[in-house]
Amino acid sequence: MSVRTGIIYSSVDGQTLKICNKLRDEFLKNNLNVELFSINDFNGDVTNYDRLIIGSSIRYGVHSKEIIHFINTNKKQLDSIKTAFFSVNLVARKPEKCTPNTNPYVIKFFKTTDWTPTIVEVFAGKLDYKKYRFFDRIMIQFIMWMTKGPTNISTEIEYTNWDRVTAFGTQLRYL
Ligand SMILES: Cc1cc2nc3c(=O)[nH]c(=O)nc-3n(C[C@H](O)[C@H](O)[C@H](O)COP(=O)(O)O)c2cc1C
Repeated sequence: MSVRTGIIYSSVDGQTLKICNKLRDEFLKNNLNVELFSINDFNGDVTNYDRLIIGSSIRYGVHSKEIIHFINTNKKQLDSIKTAFFSVNLVARKPEKCTPNTNPYVIKFFKTTDWTPTIVEVFAGKLDYKKYRFFDRIMIQFIMWMTKGPTNISTEIEYTNWDRVTAFGTQLRYL
């Protein structure tokens, strides 16, 4: 039987999904099977997989509550297989906050869960004001102003470091 890999994600504007697609491509390029699911569509059994990768973006300081619920209710099963977790957020655009040990959301996440994935990663996301609703746009502008980022509402910047995503993909293959 070949190794079964699952990727489960939560993505609101598509950047976490884009990262997952890149990770999936890395598996497929190496002739490894991989299945990709939105957290809303996954109803399989965790233990049917040899390795499971879970990715979530940050909105207003927190990871997806569906992802958190999934982790909390499947903790025992997750502990019995190889796992990886990655977070996607804009704070990670800052070099001093772009690693699991320095990104505040990742640090906080693992303070509030007793799950210890085999690998943890964090990627900078995308800033795209035109996609945001009025209230969100104002809020993100404010967050960007506070953190010395771009506040012009025509800004569209993908901060994701794709070399790091590829390197993560390689690491996952050897998990
Ligand atoms: C409404 C909203 C709230 C956000 N809140 C935060 C935040 O608190 N901290 C942060 O670093 N990034 C924040 N972001 C940035 C997102 O994490 C980033 O855009 C990411 O790429 C989104 O990934 P997704 O498209 O997969 O949801 C926020 C974005 C939006 C639209």
